[in-house]
Order: sequence, then structure tokens, then C-alpha cells
Amino acid sequence: MKYPGNTKRKPEETWVAVEGYLDGLLTPTDAALDAAVAESEKAGLPQIAVSPSQGKLLHLLAKMQGARRILEIGTLGGYSTIWLARALPARGRVVTLEGEKKHAEVARRNIARAGLNGKVEIRVGPALTTLAEMAGERKAAFDFIFIDADKENTTEYFQWGLRLSRSGSVIVVDNVIRDGEVADGATSDPRVRGIRRFNEAVAREKRVSATTVQTVGSKGYDGFTLVLVLR
Ligand code: SAH
Ligand code: DHB
Ligand code: MG
Repeated sequence: MKYPGNTKRKPEETWVAVEGYLDGLLTPTDAALDAAVAESEKAGLPQIAVSPSQGKLLHLLAKMQGARRILEIGTLGGYSTIWLARALPARGRVVTLEGEKKHAEVARRNIARAGLNGKVEIRVGPALTTLAEMAGERKAAFDFIFIDADKENTTEYFQWGLRLSRSGSVIVVDNVIRDGEVADGATSDPRVRGIRRFNEAVAREKRVSATTVQTVGSKGYDGFTLVLVLR
């Protein structure tokens, strides 16, 4: 095998090789997670779930936070949901929001197979609607929020996240780098423009402190924004 740092290899190949090496050590295979990926693919869902190492990152961040109530926006087949739900203590809860009925049904089966039915509530509908409903219910604040749905509405999800959080809550936002396109002010991609609008909102928001981590691997070159709610 070539050295990871070998300049003759394409950077993308090195990212994937290193990810494979690290996953072998730190993210061992797991039947429920593997089945969630396989069943999502079989059902024809887009293969855009977080990678195993990214799922483990979400899991660890939620655990480090001591999160008891987690909100996820964008369920897909429930892959990241499983990672997050496994970070919860007894009686902890993930509420995950999904707009596509079919995605929610696949997720429900994947979550049940992982033995996490009692910890996960899937709410089906446009997230802007379900978020407004949840704000009206005035439940306890969320300790940890993962935003991973339509990128055009990321700013609005962040604003709802602020309303549904408390001082000390953590908000994580996926897909904020998009192969570096985020730095292109002239981009016409509405998803990247959505992320740029979100970045500007975070920069203006006095009640939070944030940074962005760039990531590479099997999901390409992308990143997460990590937000701490100060208020
Ligand atoms: N978090 C998942 C991946 C989510 S993909 C994982 O890493 O495993 C994004 C999901 O957001 C898709 O399932 C899509 O249907 C959903 N979505 C997109 N727009 C939405 C909206 N307006 N309201 C609710 N869900 C939406
Ligand atoms: C897309 C969405 C995601 O949430 C992701 O992690 C990767 C890609 C997409 O819409 O293309
Ligand atoms: Mg994503």
C-alpha cells in the first residue's frame, strides 16, 4: 500500500484510505447501522447520510454535551438518528423531522431494528411547519440540535433551533462547505447560497459562538458548523 501522504495518489483516494484505516480501528461495523444503510439503499433513498466517522462525531458531541433531548432536522433513513439516539441516557429522546413520508417509513424500520423505538419520535411534514408546532407545544429545551435538511432553509432552521434551545445548547449544521463552493460569493447553487446566508446570520447573531470544521473522506470535501448557544 502507498503512503497516505504519497503525492502520486489523488487527494480523494488518500481521504478514503485514511477513513477506511480509522473506521477499522475506531468505528467498528455494527449490524443495525449496516442494515440502515443497506435498507435505505434498497428503498431507493438518496445515499447522502453522514459517514460512519461523521455519525460517531455526532454521537460523541451529543454525549460530551450530556444531551437528554436531541432535535434532528432531516431524518432520511435514520442513520444519523441512530448514532444520536445511542448517545442518550435512559429516558432521553430524539425528535427527528422529515418531510418525505417514504423516508420516514424507512427510518422507522431502521430505528426499530436498532432497538431505539422508545427513544425516537419521527415527525413527518415540512420542517418549517413541524418546528412551528413544536414551539407552540412549549416542551423543554433541546440540548443538542442537528440541522441536515434542505440547505435553502438552513437559516430558518437555525433561528427555530435558537428558539427551541437554552443557554449551553449545541447546534451542529451539516454540509456547510460543499467542495469549497461556500467561499464563492458568485455561486448560483441555491443550496450553497442557503449556507452562505446561514453563515452571515451566525456571524451577526450575538447569542452564539461558532466555528466550522472542514471534513474530507468518502463523502467528499464538506464540513460541519458547530454552534454554542450563549444567550
Ligand atoms: N440526517 C440524515 C440525512 C438527511 S438528508 C443522515 O445523515 O442520515 C436530508 C433529509 O431532509 C431528506 O430525507 C429530505 O427528505 C429531508 N428534507 C428536505 N427538505 C425538508 C423539509 N423542508 N422538511 C423536512 N424534511 C426535509
Ligand atoms: C445532500 C444533502 C445532505 O444532507 C448531504 O449530507 C449530502 C448531500 C444533497 O442534497 O445533495
Ligand atoms: Mg447532510
